[in-house]
Amino acid sequence: MLDKVKELHQEIEQYTINSPEQLEQFRMRFISRKGVITELFEGLKSVPQADRRAVGQELNGLKNLAQERFDSFSQLVNEQQSSARSVAPVDLTLPTIPNLTGTQHPLTLVRQRIIQIFERIGFNVADGPEIESDWYNFGALNFPDNHPARDMQDTFFVEKANADTDASSDMLLRTHTSNVQIRLMERQKPGTAFRPIRSIMPGRVYRNETISARAHCMFHQVEGLYIDRNVGFKDLKDTLYHFVKEMFEPGTRIRFRPSYFPFTEPSAEIDISCQICGGKGCNICKHTGWVEIAGSGMVDPQVIANCGIDPEEYTGFAFGMGIERITQLKYVVNDLRLYTENDVRFLRQFEGL
Ligand code: DAH
Repeated sequence: MLDKVKELHQEIEQYTINSPEQLEQFRMRFISRKGVITELFEGLKSVPQADRRAVGQELNGLKNLAQERFDSFSQLVNEQQSSARSVAPVDLTLPTIPNLTGTQHPLTLVRQRIIQIFERIGFNVADGPEIESDWYNFGALNFPDNHPARDMQDTFFVEKANADTDASSDMLLRTHTSNVQIRLMERQKPGTAFRPIRSIMPGRVYRNETISARAHCMFHQVEGLYIDRNVGFKDLKDTLYHFVKEMFEPGTRIRFRPSYFPFTEPSAEIDISCQICGGKGCNICKHTGWVEIAGSGMVDPQVIANCGIDPEEYTGFAFGMGIERITQLKYVVNDLRLYTENDVRFLRQFEGL
């Protein structure tokens, strides 16, 4: 029996504990009522009377040692547990992850600048759908069915109307932002006081073009519309002169060139002196010194009437320009595809603008 006690003594002394599981194993083996020490105490009865006292003392010593060890092991395990809970596994000496904030896209920058210029002279911003009916994109703007003017804008049709006769409700991706003009004018309620319209309408447009350096199937325009009593061609010229002066380099020249649009009469295209070569001639301006930036004109009385407004009383002008084109001239971007390729080497060049 004494041998057994000695053996267990040694075992306890050498015991190490690193986890709550090991602590529980220790408890089961030495402390619990089913453990080895309790078992030895039970065996005390069969020890001869003469030795019983001495063996009993040894057993008590063993029992105390086990209890002491158990207490200090439990303390240790408790401490380990709580420090694991309160200290997050974060190494504060590691270098930080750099905060890579992106830059604003050049088209966003230019759109914001265009809005700012027009807002300061009293234009508000309006919006309209990109998926549009034939009527809003073409019909109401004086493009009759099968008229050759439709050839100027190669269109993505998304849904043909049911009846083969009613082409005006065919659905398409808008080819220009001019649809928003119609929606704005239509909102004037007949019989109520006319509220002048002075809005610009930025947005995305779509045409069936093969993607190249000079053309894309998706691009951006800003439309402008001013309708009120006594709005004349002079107001159109003043407004666009002001825009060009604010947007481009000082000394930029501007010219109005007679043109044709189904929804304006008279119509004019607006050219500015080439920002790249200063008007001397280069491949951007096709060696003419001039670059077209917008279409414009006095809104055709028929278009005003199509929207339920009396064209005898109200007149107005409209214009439309491509944001990509303005950006190209302002920042010398020679390939349209750069805008949508998401190449950070291109985008980073606009940092801080
Ligand atoms: N919608 C024309 C286009 O995309 C541009 C345009 C020309 C808009 C004259 C107008 C305008 O409002 O009056 O080619």
